[in-house]
Amino acid sequence: MTSETPTRHTPENVTSNRPAPGAILEPAGSHRFDGKVALVTGSSRGIGASIAVELARCGAAVAIHGRDTKALDVVAARIHAAGGHVTTVTGDVTSSSDLEAIRESVEETLGPIDILVANAGGNRTPPAPLEQIPEDGWRATINENLLATFLTLKCFLPGMKQRGSGSIVTIASAAARRADARTPIAYAAAKAGIVALTQNVAAQAGPDGIRANCITPETILTEHNRERIPVALQEDLAQTHPLRRLGTPEDVAHAAVFLVSDDAEWITGLVLDVSGGAIMA
Ligand SMILES: NC(=O)c1ccc[n+]([C@@H]2O[C@H](COP(=O)([O-])OP(=O)(O)OC[C@H]3O[C@@H](n4cnc5c(N)ncnc54)[C@H](OP(=O)(O)O)[C@@H]3O)[C@@H](O)[C@H]2O)c1
Repeated sequence: MTSETPTRHTPENVTSNRPAPGAILEPAGSHRFDGKVALVTGSSRGIGASIAVELARCGAAVAIHGRDTKALDVVAARIHAAGGHVTTVTGDVTSSSDLEAIRESVEETLGPIDILVANAGGNRTPPAPLEQIPEDGWRATINENLLATFLTLKCFLPGMKQRGSGSIVTIASAAARRADARTPIAYAAAKAGIVALTQNVAAQAGPDGIRANCITPETILTEHNRERIPVALQEDLAQTHPLRRLGTPEDVAHAAVFLVSDDAEWITGLVLDVSGGAIMA
């Protein structure tokens, strides 16, 4: 790392990859992120795995991350099989020392990170009336989501600032977008914190050439949710969405790829509901 003054991006010195008017656009995919390095936390399965696969499909060298090495091997094999460039890192995102080790490992193997998707998280407390929520469950959920996202951004922002560029996507949840008596409150509060965290980082780091956006998915049919949610309930839930289906990990991946790409170069601080119309904020 250098101690150079960070580049201040002004309309004059921003170089745009926008095509000239009338230019023939390249099809999506393949070479969009050639030369870029991406880290997707929590990409050993679920939404994170889909985002990692999609970024690799579009040319990024991708660091996949989680704690389950067998699951990481499966995702790495998928990316290799598609001709993508991948490395694997492990560690707990609620630990700043683990995150530092992850950063060092990715930088050594692939180079500095251009694209950061802070996806790792999940709910650690079942829905319950507030007075029945155990304090340890509350702390675990806040740590797993809000603390983890804070520590992840804290670890990677300084390098992005020094380089004067970077694109960040955080993953919150539809639970943060509207109140519902069946929502796990700690999870909703943690994810609402991620929304505020992301928008404030966007406001602080925009002058350093860094964009930060947040995706708030409704129920996504990950492997885990397919097993956990009975099929009849999946069908009932689908009917509550104007688009009459639940989301897929790929729905979120496509949104993430757009947000970190140059197509979104003037979009920052956005909260993007990927919800089949269930949330219209
Ligand atoms: N699925 C949904 O319906 C839905 C809806 C809205 C928002 N979200 C959010 O989307 C994100 C991904 O959800 P998902 O359903 O795809 O989750 P998932 O299938 O349960 O996978 C979670 C991923 O995060 C990793 N992870 C979790 N805690 C971690 C920790 N402390 N340290 C390191 N890695 C950790 C897991 O790693 P290992 O398993 O390898 O340890 C795994 O790779 C989460 O932030 C979740 O809250 C999900």
